[in-house]
Amino acid sequence: MKLTLRVWRQRDAESPGAMATYEVDGISADMSFLEMLDTLNEELILAGDEPVAFDHDCREGICGACSLVINGDAHGPERTTTCQLHMRSFADGDTIDIEPWRAAAFPVVKDLVVDRSSFDRIIQSGGYISAATGTAPDAHATPVPKPDADSAFEHAECIGCGACVAACPNGSAMLFTSAKVNHLNVLPQGAPERETRVLDMVARMDEEGFGGCTLTGECATACPKGIPLPSIAAMNKEWLRAVRKVRR
Ligand code: FES
Repeated sequence: MKLTLRVWRQRDAESPGAMATYEVDGISADMSFLEMLDTLNEELILAGDEPVAFDHDCREGICGACSLVINGDAHGPERTTTCQLHMRSFADGDTIDIEPWRAAAFPVVKDLVVDRSSFDRIIQSGGYISAATGTAPDAHATPVPKPDADSAFEHAECIGCGACVAACPNGSAMLFTSAKVNHLNVLPQGAPERETRVLDMVARMDEEGFGGCTLTGECATACPKGIPLPSIAAMNKEWLRAVRKVRR
């Protein structure tokens, strides 16, 4: 497979960026998208040029580190992470545009790498429990209704990749924040911080400069883990409940 890549190059956070065009040849349809970028970088290094900086860690769809806008879509044409996207999704001769996440709260660090520490600060503000965990308890020690357990697991699938923010025309982090709030708020172990968690995490999200949610649904469409759009409605309900309770 021979491809033309138009890649965002930016020396550092202060420098202006621009698209640079590269040709890559000998790309296998079985390669992952990141392996294709590895091939490009090997060629750049051999030519004495600066390789393209991009984020990755597990390359197994688990860590959420890989984060590229590919042909205008967060994580590209398939509903998966960039590391799990394979070159069979493209055709020989294609031109592929590769850009970093575009959001005010995710400033570009270099090339395709963005700073997503704003997500970490949202988690720090309330994405934890204070209940003593100790050693693993018996499975039935704290009864959790099956629908609540299923809901917690569904929301816990969020890997914090930021595709929801990158896909949203408002740069909103509501889907991410709702996944992290709902994951703990539905469980008895998360009950002690149920109100402060949602209030603090939503406040922190706003402070970080994420946009407001207008329920366009692009976030849920782009999410590689399938966090559903009603998760946002559930968090809004939690937030209203918390505001009423705190004001009493
Ligand atoms: S590198 Fe870990 S999810 Fe892609």
